[in-house]
Amino acid sequence: APKAIIAPSILSADFAQLGADCARTMDQGADWLHVDIMDGHFVPNITFGAPVVAKIRKHVDKPAAGLGRGTFDCHMMIAEPKKWVKEFQKAGCDLYCFHYEAAFSSAAESPEAAATDAKTNPKDLVRYIHGLGLLAGVALKPATGVEVLTELLESPDPKERPDMVLIMTVEPGFGGQKFMASELPKVQALRQKYPDLNIEVDGGLGPGTIDQAADAGANVIVAGSAVFGARDPAEVISLLRTTVDS
Ligand code: DX5
Ligand code: ZN
Repeated sequence: APKAIIAPSILSADFAQLGADCARTMDQGADWLHVDIMDGHFVPNITFGAPVVAKIRKHVDKPAAGLGRGTFDCHMMIAEPKKWVKEFQKAGCDLYCFHYEAAFSSAAESPEAAATDAKTNPKDLVRYIHGLGLLAGVALKPATGVEVLTELLESPDPKERPDMVLIMTVEPGFGGQKFMASELPKVQALRQKYPDLNIEVDGGLGPGTIDQAADAGANVIVAGSAVFGARDPAEVISLLRTTVDS
């Protein structure tokens, strides 16, 4: 499996001093920042948008290339993911991770209808994100099975293949929820089929749950409350990393 990437979720930071909190988390050993974008529609909560991302970008060095240190991993919990790619690219987002469930835009009545509509299917969205020079991620809510990703992950065209898959281990919307171990078979199934895939887990991760997630094969670890609520965040980040890499 690929090496550990630790991505603290700034949802648990102090929004009144977000820039300083982001810089400090990087100093404490984070690889990426996980940036949760919620629109109050796809999920029952609202965070912030591209203008805030542009402001905090200045507090963290841009990655030199690829999935390097300082990557802004934007987790788009929004109903119209295609609409905001350009805006977030301009703001300094590096990896645009949309929800599979939202990729079928409101223009299409159903996933079946959307699959035939080149403008609204997930494949076209991955291609569009790549075309704007960003890395692409696809996120799955607990109710969505991994089989929906086969076509994307096995596309003969690399422009259609996501750079990362995010398996939610809570219902998206809030930090500090209980880890759902029931989602780990999805991680296992993906790891078995795709040894080199970046597989991210998000929700309820921390010292008490990292063993299970690492065993299942996850390598990109999001942690919000476990990092920002820790007495010693650097120690937690290092523990998460060691567990994945050992
Ligand atoms: C939840 C967000 C998560 C959240 C995780 O919808 O996607 O990134 O911040 O928070 P913890 O680690 O506290 O469960
Ligand atoms: Zn998230």
